[in-house]
Amino acid sequence: MTFLSATLDRVKPSPTIAVTTRAAELKAQGRDIIGLGAGEPDFDTPDNIKAAATQAIKDGKTKYTAVDGIPELKQAICAKFKRDNALTYTPAQISVGTGGKQVLYNAFMATLNPGDEVIIPAPYWVSYPDMVLLGGGTPVFVAGEMERGYKITADQLEAEITPRTKWFLFNSPSNPTGAGYSWDELKALTDVLLRHPHVWVMTDDMYEHLAYGAFTFCTPAEVEPKLYDRTLTVNGVSKAYAMTGWRIGYAAGPEPLIKAMRKVQSQSTSNPCTISQWAAVEALNGTQEFLKPNNAMFVRRRDLVVDALNDCPGIACPRPEGAFYVYPSIKGCIGKTSAGGTVIDTDETFATALLDETGAAVVFGAAFGLSPHFRVSYATSDTALSEACARIKTFCEGLT
Ligand SMILES: Cc1ncc(COP(=O)(O)O)c(C=O)c1O
Repeated sequence: MTFLSATLDRVKPSPTIAVTTRAAELKAQGRDIIGLGAGEPDFDTPDNIKAAATQAIKDGKTKYTAVDGIPELKQAICAKFKRDNALTYTPAQISVGTGGKQVLYNAFMATLNPGDEVIIPAPYWVSYPDMVLLGGGTPVFVAGEMERGYKITADQLEAEITPRTKWFLFNSPSNPTGAGYSWDELKALTDVLLRHPHVWVMTDDMYEHLAYGAFTFCTPAEVEPKLYDRTLTVNGVSKAYAMTGWRIGYAAGPEPLIKAMRKVQSQSTSNPCTISQWAAVEALNGTQEFLKPNNAMFVRRRDLVVDALNDCPGIACPRPEGAFYVYPSIKGCIGKTSAGGTVIDTDETFATALLDETGAAVVFGAAFGLSPHFRVSYATSDTALSEACARIKTFCEGLT
């Protein structure tokens, strides 16, 4: 009998955290490392949000709260869904957790039984498959190829639905590709789901506010109101408000599901940090003015990175609609040998050799379920991005 749970054998630690850790180790050894792995904005939480947290501490709002959120935050979330997504929810339909991550996890723990399938478009955010496995379910992947903008088609979705399908997990704009589904592209998918009433939709809208150019964000329950009764809409303050460390995420959906998620949370972490909840009230109710200049900055960085990567031999990089990631193909590098003598047979060897030989840290595509690619997070300074891209170019030019 082993001491550790057999469930743990089914999951792997987050590879994005592994890359960040390896880059930090090399940095500690004195190497000049540029990290393009972290999935968080490089700017600080806005002052009005910090002030709300300070005020909460001063006012003694430092005790336990209701398990899945204070009424004021649930009200602010309802108002946000009405304002941004034309979706009507009552506070009883809202769940607040310790980051979007916990909310997604709660939903799987609350609903999955052995044999239940969850359809996940690939490439996907690294945590999805492992959360499903931890919940006892089975992830089913659908490949969103680069040639179709990393998006899946209605036919592909239809082909994967079985009587055991419980959830379709949707994420737009996407981590790791930045791909955003237009209204029509999403409608094609929701039309499929209408034909399969046993399938529920879990939509991860974490990058809603990071939408660029002509792309307009939309979410499944908005595009197809008939899916409202079987959709869990997940969102959070981490990315748009630069609040990754505050750990507040939320979801809206049918009351029985929200109640079941509350039960999971009540026997694990209880309420998310009280002070962070008050900060999130201000994030959602306060000024949204900074979103526009932030997005303008991200567009500039996206274009800088896309143009520079397309200038590297062997790399092809589409220009995505949102988030702060690009997901270039390295098909043209596979089979070659780096200047340091590494044969590039996979995207993992590419990323490892790139880090070791140039100090540029990216995450290999296999971690996200679609190879051969790598992910760049461009939520860092223009200077760091330009230097990292120059190193990637030198590395690619050195391949023989
Ligand atoms: C697609 C996606 N969903 C959810 C999360 C989790 O966000 P949070 O910090 O709110 O837990 C992330 C964070 O990287 C993400 O990229």
